[in-house]
Amino acid sequence: MTKKQAPKTAKLIIGDQELDLPVMVGSEGELAIDITKLRSTTGAVTFDPGLGNTGACTSKITFLDGEQGILRYAGYPIEELAQQSNFVEVMWLLLHQDLPSSTQLEQFNHDVTHHTMLHEDLKRLFASLPKAGHPMAVCAAAVGALSTYYQKAGPQTAEQNWSDAVRLLAKMPTIAAYSFKHSIGQPFMYPRNDLSYSSNILHMMFATPCGKYEPNPVIARALDLLLILHADHEQNCSTSTVRTVGSSGANLFASVSAGISALWGPLHGGANEAVIDMLTSIRDGERSARQFMDLAKQKNSGVRLMGFGHRVYKNYDPRALILKQACYDVLAELGRKDPLLDIALELEQIALSDNYFIERKLYPNVDFYSGIIYKALGIPSDMFTVFFAIGRMPGWVAQWLEYQGDSAARITRPRQIYMGPNKRTYTDVSKR
Ligand code: SDX
Repeated sequence: MTKKQAPKTAKLIIGDQELDLPVMVGSEGELAIDITKLRSTTGAVTFDPGLGNTGACTSKITFLDGEQGILRYAGYPIEELAQQSNFVEVMWLLLHQDLPSSTQLEQFNHDVTHHTMLHEDLKRLFASLPKAGHPMAVCAAAVGALSTYYQKAGPQTAEQNWSDAVRLLAKMPTIAAYSFKHSIGQPFMYPRNDLSYSSNILHMMFATPCGKYEPNPVIARALDLLLILHADHEQNCSTSTVRTVGSSGANLFASVSAGISALWGPLHGGANEAVIDMLTSIRDGERSARQFMDLAKQKNSGVRLMGFGHRVYKNYDPRALILKQACYDVLAELGRKDPLLDIALELEQIALSDNYFIERKLYPNVDFYSGIIYKALGIPSDMFTVFFAIGRMPGWVAQWLEYQGDSAARITRPRQIYMGPNKRTYTDVSKR
């Protein structure tokens, strides 16, 4: 709907009050009813558990259309960026909402490359944690600990925020790789400044001091594609967590550490690891694909079709479409086959022709096929969500910076509907 066609106000009648609430129109024509004065004029609040109907902010970074299955970073369709861009350029795009010039890209690439090392003392944090600890917990701890190396007295300046942003984007792959090396008892590999961002990740993950390791360019390109597709997704659970923590004035590292913890949940970024567990259980004969799907439709079976469904997409997740094709391309390039892909295709086939899924508009999301590619790249399944976090880092940072620069932004503090006991008088325990 264009601004001209949009209604200027929405009428609300509550009791004997009649209100005209202003209507906001987004740049893609989406409408929002501005209720910022609702409680002060009526005493009432809205009720929207999960906030699926609530716009928490305005943003110029990412646009989603769930019905059409559209995803654009600052206006650029994800399909074009996946085909033609690279992850470091997409980082800049999200941070500045514009594509960089070649000079800007070169300088940014240099800056990110030259901040990849961690303080030598920080390495002791990894050693203090159990090898069997989940790497998402290790990464959340390490990112939070970064703030102890870069803490400043007084309010952050924009320059300091930018310097923290570059450091976080640069150091997240090093933290991720160190969490993996610690879990397998191998020595940490220092980052290499002569490698691209994605190749450096592969180097730190899979090289050892005992021999030469040159990252496979096909694997590096596939990883770069995965990172681009995960880079931002408007106000998802982990990004709104980063914004919420940042709204209290907490620094970027503390805010993103909270975002990593939110992403870990199996309903969010942890789904990619759960998808592989699901496909593996079917491959190993615990139950057939059809039996699994029948259970996934039963409310209290405790079984969910992981990697399916989405709060916003009520159509195919455009990232899943790209990843599905990438599964074929990467496996072919590497001359490999994976029975899990066949099982995933069978589950999708069953779901897209089953009324339960059709009625609820449940389609594959970004997590349904990504694990098959991570697995083909040699990444262990408990690192899948860590790689989601590496990809999502520029989105978290860009959204946090946007919040800091928003003069209308206030500390996040939602209200509630109290349903507890009314006022009553305390009695001493001897009388209860
Ligand atoms: C990500 O928000 C983002 O943008 C997230 C993300 C990003 O890039 O940041 O896209 C990344 O987190 C993708 C989602 C990964 N999670 C999963 O794959 C886990 C499985 N999916 C679901 O748990 C669920 O679909 C959610 C959590 C993704 C969405 O949950 P909603 O919007 O709260 O939907 P819901 O749970 O209310 O489901 C609506 C109905 C319910 O049935 P009814 O009560 O109407 O009978 O659909 C059913 C649900 O039971 N349903 C499923 C299902 N997902 C929803 N039934 C079986 N299998 C599923 N996967």
